[in-house]
Amino acid sequence: MEFVVKSGAAEKQKTACLIVGVQKTSQLPAMQAMDTLSNGYLTGLIKRGDITFKPGHSLLLQHVPEALSERLLMVATGEDDKPLTVSQYQKLVGHVISTLKSANVKDAVIAIDDFKVKGQELSWIARQFVEVIEHSLYRFDDYKSDKPKKSADVLKKITLLTDRKTVNAVKEAVAQGQAIGKGRNVARTLGNLPGNICHPTYLADEAKALAKTHAKLTTKVLNEKQMHDLGMHSLLSVSAGSAQEAKLIMMEFKNGKRGAKPLVLLGKGVTFDTGGISLKPGAGMDEMKFDMCGAASIFGVMNAIVEMDLPLNVIGMVAAAENMPGSKATRPGDIVKSMSGKTIEILNTDAEGRLVLCDALTYAERYKPEAVIDVATLTGACVIALGHHTTGVLSNNDELAEELLSASNQAADKAWQLPMGEEYQEQLDSNFADMANIGGRPGGTITAACFLSRYAESYPWAHLDIAGTAWASGKNKGASGRPVPMLVQYLLNKLK
Ligand code: BES
Ligand code: MN
Ligand code: ZN
Repeated sequence: MEFVVKSGAAEKQKTACLIVGVQKTSQLPAMQAMDTLSNGYLTGLIKRGDITFKPGHSLLLQHVPEALSERLLMVATGEDDKPLTVSQYQKLVGHVISTLKSANVKDAVIAIDDFKVKGQELSWIARQFVEVIEHSLYRFDDYKSDKPKKSADVLKKITLLTDRKTVNAVKEAVAQGQAIGKGRNVARTLGNLPGNICHPTYLADEAKALAKTHAKLTTKVLNEKQMHDLGMHSLLSVSAGSAQEAKLIMMEFKNGKRGAKPLVLLGKGVTFDTGGISLKPGAGMDEMKFDMCGAASIFGVMNAIVEMDLPLNVIGMVAAAENMPGSKATRPGDIVKSMSGKTIEILNTDAEGRLVLCDALTYAERYKPEAVIDVATLTGACVIALGHHTTGVLSNNDELAEELLSASNQAADKAWQLPMGEEYQEQLDSNFADMANIGGRPGGTITAACFLSRYAESYPWAHLDIAGTAWASGKNKGASGRPVPMLVQYLLNKLK
C-alpha cells in the first residue's frame, strides 16, 4: 500500500473515492465544502435521513453533483464535536477499508483532519490509520493453492489530506505507522508459519537476511556446540529431544551514539512446544507453533527500527529451540546447570520457556545493557489472569515498568503490570537443586517471572508475558504481531 500526505482542498481532489467525516448538525470543513459544491445535495440527504450517525456508519455515494471525485464516502464520526474512543476509531478505519475494498476502489483520499480521537493528537490519528490499514490488508496465504488474485482492482494508494501546517508531522506519523504495521506483519508471518518450516535454523537464516538490509545491523548465531562450551545447559535441555538444533540469535543494531549502552530485547523462540516428556494434551496442540511469537515480535521490532533508521543501539536476541519428546529428551527430575552456575531441577519439561530464556539473560550481561526486556508466550496462567486482550508486564525496576506501560498506552497495545514480590520466590524451592523450574499453580505467571528474575539481577529487566495476546484461536486463528507496537513506541520514546 502506498500512502501519500499532502495539503489541499477536499473538493479539488480527483480520486476514485473521497472520504470525509459527517456529523448530525454542525458539518466538518471537508463535508461543508462538498455540500456547497454540490449545492446542498449532501445536507439534503442528511435531512431525508439517508445516513445514520453511529460512529463508523457510512454512506457511499456515486457521482455527487459537481464533484471531481468519482465517489464520496461519508463516515459518521459520532455525536457533533465529541471525539471517538480509540476502539471506535479503530473499528471505523477497519470499516472504511472494507468498504473501499468491496467497491473495488483503487485509490482514495481522506480528509484526516475531520477525525478526532479522545486524548490523541493528529499525528497519532494518522499513524493509527496506517497501522489499522496495514493490519487489515494482511493475508497469510502462501500455502493456499487457490489464492485470491492480486489483481489490478485492489486498493493501491491512499492520500491523507491535511493542513499545510501539519503536513510534515503527518508525514512522519505515516512513515512510523508503515514501519510499525509492516514490522507487525513480519511478526505475524513468522508466527503463522508452521513448525516444520519455521524451526530454529529458519529463524537464524531470517536474522542473517535482515542483517543484509542495513549497514549498522549484524547478526551472530550460536550453535549447540558453542552454547555447550558456554555452559548453557538449561537452554540445551529444551532442544535435547529434538532433531532441530537450538540457536541463540543476536541481531546487533548499532545505530546510536558510540559507547551508549544498548537496549536488549529478547524473545522466546520455541518453534514448537509439545511439552516434551511432560507431553501436552493433543487437542489444540497445533497452536504451539505460536510459541515463538515472542521471537517473532523481536524480528518485527528490528524490521521496524531498521526501516525507520532509529539512532539507537538495540540488540534483538532470540532463544530458539524446539521442545520435543524423544530418547534424548530431558526427563522430569533431571538437574541441569545453567550458564550462571545455578542448578535447576526440571520438574516439568513443559515449563521450557524459562529454561531457554534464563541462559539468554545471562548471555545478555555481556552487552552491559541499559535494560533488558524479554517477550514470551510463557504461561497459560497469564491467559487466565488477563485474558486475550492484555499483555502481562513484570519487572525488577518500577521505572522501566512505567515506561513500558505508558508506551503500551500510547501505542494502543494493552498491557498491565502484575506484582513480583519476593514472597513468591519460595514457591521455586527444590529439595535437590538451587531451584525448581515450576512453582505450582498459584500465581503461575508471577513464579515464572520470579524464575527469570534470578538471571536478571545485574540490569533493569522487564518481562512481557504474551501468552494471551500473541495469537487468536478459532475461526480467526492467527498471530497478532503484538507487542510490536508497544515495543517500537518504547524505543521511539527513548529518542525524546
Ligand atoms: N508455551 C506454554 C505456555 C502457553 C500455554 C502459552 C498455552 C499459551 C497458551 C509454556 O511453555 C507452558 O507450557 N507453560 C506451562 C507452565 C507450567 C508447566 C508451569 C503452562 O502454562 O501450563
Ligand atoms: Mn511449554
Ligand atoms: Zn512454551
